[in-house]
Amino acid sequence: MERGTSDRNASPASRIDAGADLHTRILVVEDNRVTNDMVKDFLRERNYRVDQAFNGSEALQMMARNSYDIVISDIVMPGMDGIEFLKRVKSIKPDQEVIMVTSSVDISHSIEAIKLQAMDYILKPIDFKEFDASIRRALERLTLGRLQKEHRDILEFKMIEEGRRAQSVFFDAVQSLINAIEARDSYTRGHSQRVTRYTELITEVLQLPGEAASEIRLAAQLHDIGKLGMSDFVLSKSGKLTEEEFDLIRKHPDVGYAILQPILPGQALLAVRHHHERWDGGGYPHGLAGEEIPLSARIIALADAFDAMTSRRVYRSAMNTRQARDEILRCSGSQFDPALVELAQDLIARGKGFGEASDSQEGGSVTVN
Ligand SMILES: [Fe+2]
Repeated sequence: MERGTSDRNASPASRIDAGADLHTRILVVEDNRVTNDMVKDFLRERNYRVDQAFNGSEALQMMARNSYDIVISDIVMPGMDGIEFLKRVKSIKPDQEVIMVTSSVDISHSIEAIKLQAMDYILKPIDFKEFDASIRRALERLTLGRLQKEHRDILEFKMIEEGRRAQSVFFDAVQSLINAIEARDSYTRGHSQRVTRYTELITEVLQLPGEAASEIRLAAQLHDIGKLGMSDFVLSKSGKLTEEEFDLIRKHPDVGYAILQPILPGQALLAVRHHHERWDGGGYPHGLAGEEIPLSARIIALADAFDAMTSRRVYRSAMNTRQARDEILRCSGSQFDPALVELAQDLIARGKGFGEASDSQEGGSVTVN
């Protein structure tokens, strides 16, 4: 539908029929009251909603309070001139449609206005036919911009939906993998879930950013996935492991890393690979020490060991929480990061979810998970 008309003699009805729009809000910035009123009257006759400002500062204040579809500004004004006003408008609202109007024949003004992305530049005395066409072009650009934004919003929504679906498939796959690990050994049932819970308790206290915390959470869920590559005989052996068998067990973090490489982000992968390193460098698979070990892996190592201590195995029974807390303290600085041990001691002492489930089990001795 065509908007507005340059025919000032048209009947009121025909002016409305021509598409003038009460929802279209226009700000006229002009220090000369006669010119300002003339522009205002021309626009109101076409049923636009019009506000008037008589200098740049006043206009900026009005723009801070209201939203305008189009701003029409004079260039030569006392105080802040139209070019400075345009600069400030574009710095606040880059996509604001602005039409510049001036009696100046100085070509540098028009070049500056175009550089600052004014939508149009009109010379005084105003040719209202040209002015009307300029308003309509601005409205067309606005409509196009809104349609493009709607299109982008729809695409973005679809991408978010796709992402959610993919994430849900991913988490289902993760759960299947966990089930596959734990189905092989009834004594480790629920282990991944408990290690994940202890890991979450530690990351909450450390106030790790959301993305880092969710990567560590994933790693905690899947830390032992490399055991899928181990034989049942070795995994469920109740007697002492031979050196050869223990060498096989030592490979599970690297095997897990290889299995998960196509699907997990980097930090989560490193946590899986290094969850059996020790603070003193005596762990496996790479013998990293201290802060060479990624923080994510140090956290999971502590959570993993705590659950191993407080869980029953075919060849031993479980420690209670107090025994496990003492054992962790004894291993501070050798097996575990001392700062994390301090944090875990505090969590255990305050009964913050560490070991609650294990205390319902029978007490007993310790082993390495
Ligand atoms: Fe492990």
